[in-house]
Amino acid sequence: MAENPAYPVGLRLTGRRVVVLGGGQVAQRRLPALIAAGADILLVSPEATPSVEAMADAGEISWERRPYREGDLADAWYALIATSDTEANTEASAEAERHRVWCVRSDDADKATAWTPATGTSEGVTVAVLTTNAKGRDPRHTAAIRDAVVEGLRDGTLVAPHHRTRTPGVALVGGGPGDPDLITVRGRRLLAEADVVIADRLGPRDLLAELPPHVEVIDAAKIPYGRYMAQEAINNALIEHAKQGKSVVRLKGGDPYVFGRGMEELQALAEAGIPCTVVPGISSSISVPGAAGIPVTHRGVAHEFTVVSGHVAPDDERSLVDWPSLAKLTGTLVILMGVDKIGKIAETLVAHGKPADTPVALVQEGTTAAQRRVDATLETVAETVRTQEVKPPAVIVIGEVVTVGPRTSA
Ligand SMILES: C[S@@+](CC[C@H](N)C(=O)[O-])C[C@H]1O[C@@H](n2cnc3c(N)ncnc32)[C@H](O)[C@@H]1O
Repeated sequence: MAENPAYPVGLRLTGRRVVVLGGGQVAQRRLPALIAAGADILLVSPEATPSVEAMADAGEISWERRPYREGDLADAWYALIATSDTEANTEASAEAERHRVWCVRSDDADKATAWTPATGTSEGVTVAVLTTNAKGRDPRHTAAIRDAVVEGLRDGTLVAPHHRTRTPGVALVGGGPGDPDLITVRGRRLLAEADVVIADRLGPRDLLAELPPHVEVIDAAKIPYGRYMAQEAINNALIEHAKQGKSVVRLKGGDPYVFGRGMEELQALAEAGIPCTVVPGISSSISVPGAAGIPVTHRGVAHEFTVVSGHVAPDDERSLVDWPSLAKLTGTLVILMGVDKIGKIAETLVAHGKPADTPVALVQEGTTAAQRRVDATLETVAETVRTQEVKPPAVIVIGEVVTVGPRTSA
């Protein structure tokens, strides 16, 4: 006779007793979801992995440090049987059967009365994948299907346009330093839902090519601003498109709040009564040095890093940076927008006590196919930038961290 298919169901476990037998790897993997479901969890096991022990220490589960014994499942609604003792597992699943407690068995799925599906969540939807019956059970296959579905939901490729949950208003999305893989999952999903994308020159430009043809892509640098400042014109464009009921993504390089004028845009939208979501991004200040093999901190070398804008020279009255104090710091200095003024900056740092032989690295177009790293010292950097023709965008790193890594990437 053909085996009946398993019946899929979602258990609502809040406050309900779940008994877990065995505190090893299986428990470690399953417990977080049971905790998230609000279950009243009793772990019975003489030992546990450090992670499971930490859950008990945090009061997320109750733990009785002993082997399974008859009667443990009496109050359970659901049981996870995962000890390393097959005999104990068999006795426990017989008890579960007697008490009509659904039970999962890690050692013998055939003998279990329930199976754990491969699960994943995205934006309020849980995807749970089960094979139809025991013969076809293949956890790798179900996990691969789960991954494909969850990934599709997250990046928006699986959602039919008329069903998609559009985020109203404007999303200020930090796109990361340039590599299209370095945007967040949320940023990518919002991009897939957008009607209009207003993008900067920096950031993951390659992602724009993937957008469907109906999406209007606007280059922020090319918005005509007439009597307005360029930034005001961008704010107005965001407001106008959002007022037309469109989903607007403002795609920015790095993180919107690191020299990204994100708050100015958010304030303008708030004044216009337009809802705005901000999605953090991976800032170039950390990721671009990292991509070139430079850690911004390193044990025993740098216990601090400071990110500074170098867009105005130290002697410029508009400068808000205390360069003499920065010269006295022992940690790493990371300078954005500093290529044009690096000569003056290096001179000022040396004049206020930073050693002239302090290592400097300039990383141009980090994380993109055009990435390039040029090394110098404070003394030589101005000349190096000239002779090597270093151009923006580049992140400049000053400090001993520049020399700690093997020079594998450039
Ligand atoms: C206006 S700031 C924006 C920073 C951005 N919000 C962030 O968090 O990375 C632009 C500067 O960031 C740096 N930058 C951004 N992306 C870069 C990249 N891929 N490679 C090198 N520098 C980059 C350069 O110093 C550039 O002049």
